[in-house]
Amino acid sequence: MRQKLLMGNWKMNKSYSQAVDIAQQLSYRASDFSGVETVVCPPFTSLKGVQNVFSFDNTPIKLGAQDVFWEENGAYTGFISAEMLKDLSVSYCIIGHSERRQNAGDTDEDIQKKAQALLKYGITPVICVGEPPVVHEARNSSDFVIEQLARALSGLEGAKDLVIAYEPIWAIGSGNVAAPEFAGEVCHALRVVVEKAFGKGFADKTRVLYGGSVMAENAGAYLMQDDIDGLLVGSASLDENSFSAIAKQM
Ligand code: PGA
Repeated sequence: MRQKLLMGNWKMNKSYSQAVDIAQQLSYRASDFSGVETVVCPPFTSLKGVQNVFSFDNTPIKLGAQDVFWEENGAYTGFISAEMLKDLSVSYCIIGHSERRQNAGDTDEDIQKKAQALLKYGITPVICVGEPPVVHEARNSSDFVIEQLARALSGLEGAKDLVIAYEPIWAIGSGNVAAPEFAGEVCHALRVVVEKAFGKGFADKTRVLYGGSVMAENAGAYLMQDDIDGLLVGSASLDENSFSAIAKQM
């Protein structure tokens, strides 16, 4: 049995004080999150503040980052290494989010290098894949994300833990929700990619998440799909009420 995983991706939202504030709100209602492994991914600037709140309150919510650079250290202005994240008790790190692919030019090869750097420090990579609207309209969604994932996975043999997130670009922040059965089929296709790369045992324990306009109202339908093991939530994770309403369904 794969343990369900709920991740909140705050993206470029919340100042330090706002992040500490919502971390406190989440801590007050920690019991809402007791049945599910929960991770929040604040901006880099708030990782330490959120971690302080959770460790002071003994809140069982884990910390994730939104990106990493693959080099260890050195003259890389503005970048953050896996070792720096590890030092802040980061357990998960999103890589390959479509917003990074679009705005920062991240390629599948970059994503593979980032995953390797994270694995070296015992941080679980959350590898995001997703197709643009034209690919979806041409009914090529599965083929597109299968190729994205296969490229990102090459060279990751020996990984102890990976999380895969299917986030169709046309569903992110758009309110255009993907049909749960369709999302379930694509997540199944992604698990088959993991199986081809690393074997059935590894694929069976790898969690595949769905993300894209997930809200309390639609979360349950995604979770009913056999191959969807959790949710990667953007805007609905910015408010403690909507995030905990999703957690209660998991
Ligand atoms: P959304 O974002 O829930 O706001 O659609 C999801 C994501 O991009 O991770």
